[in-house]
Amino acid sequence: MPQVALPVHEAPSGADFLPLNGTDHVEFYVGNARQAAHYYRSAFGMRLIAYRGPETGTRDRASYVVEQGKIRFVLTTALSPSSPIAAQQFAHGDGVKAIALTVDDATSAWRETTQRGAVSVTPPTEQRDESGVVITASIALYGETIHTFVERRNYPGAFFPGYRAVDEDFVVRPTGLLHIDHMVANVGWGEMNRWVEFYRDVMGFRLYQHFDDRDISTEYSALMSKVMSNGNGWVKFPINEPAQGRKKSQIEEYLDSYGGPGVQHIAMATHDIIETVSRLRNQGVEFLRVPGAYYRELESRVGKIDEPVGALEELGVLVDRDDEGYMLQIFTRPVEDRPTLFYEIIQRKGSRSFGKGNFKALFEAIEREQASRGNL
Ligand code: FE2
Repeated sequence: MPQVALPVHEAPSGADFLPLNGTDHVEFYVGNARQAAHYYRSAFGMRLIAYRGPETGTRDRASYVVEQGKIRFVLTTALSPSSPIAAQQFAHGDGVKAIALTVDDATSAWRETTQRGAVSVTPPTEQRDESGVVITASIALYGETIHTFVERRNYPGAFFPGYRAVDEDFVVRPTGLLHIDHMVANVGWGEMNRWVEFYRDVMGFRLYQHFDDRDISTEYSALMSKVMSNGNGWVKFPINEPAQGRKKSQIEEYLDSYGGPGVQHIAMATHDIIETVSRLRNQGVEFLRVPGAYYRELESRVGKIDEPVGALEELGVLVDRDDEGYMLQIFTRPVEDRPTLFYEIIQRKGSRSFGKGNFKALFEAIEREQASRGNL
């Protein structure tokens, strides 16, 4: 798999200097990629589509690509203790390494962002095989997380050059997951605005929503959050920082456990949250429980909804409304032993919000778990 550094040319300046076509994939560094792939297949119903490792000529790592709808995860593990991948996995546990964004021109994306202050991780690099060409370039983000720009040029092969296609996956049990709605970062004390400015100044994003510690606080713990959106609104990154509360913020617990900032949760969209969450539960995905009192007050808070409240209560699905409509959401427990990354399942019915009205109910549920680990 030849990798070639490309020359960097000047490009004409436009209104949106970083046009994004969505999330190409999310790459995780994990301790055991074979078993992690099995978890996402058997529990989340994703399909194994591609693999690379020693059998395909990659000596230092093994990567499994799983997919459902437009969601694509790459699970990568080190094959030797001296690998930098092993060092990162040792420091953080399993977690998100790369948020890869699809672009028409990876070289331009890399140049426009590095000229605005992004730190380059990998300059534009061409990967080629008999199927065609993929060009990637990466820039540094919070902690050891990176953004990778992916230019596929209609690449028809298995994911990327160097991967082999997996023809059939006998495990697959789809759950109706469609696409990534948003991905949330946890950053350190006082760091939120630095990363808001990064997305604004370096990536050309704009501030979409803002929550302060009056919105998102419980008796014990608090956080602040700002949601950044790209030009066409297809890519949204909320950024959280801990705020002062009576006890340890859940964001601080994450930072301590992960060993620094990183991706807190990935929200995946569905057209039918009751069906999706029922299937996920049957396949072993564990969700946060919600106090019964939440559902007694639900209809007075959000008004009439299409879904039976009893079914939502049984599953623990939360509901929030704004002037445009409503949305339903639910959160998994962390999917690692360290209380770090978790998932959100979301169904939007008009609302473009992030569930401000649910924060309190949700965080009280999270804190019950935090207390059970002796961290509150
Ligand atoms: Fe979320």
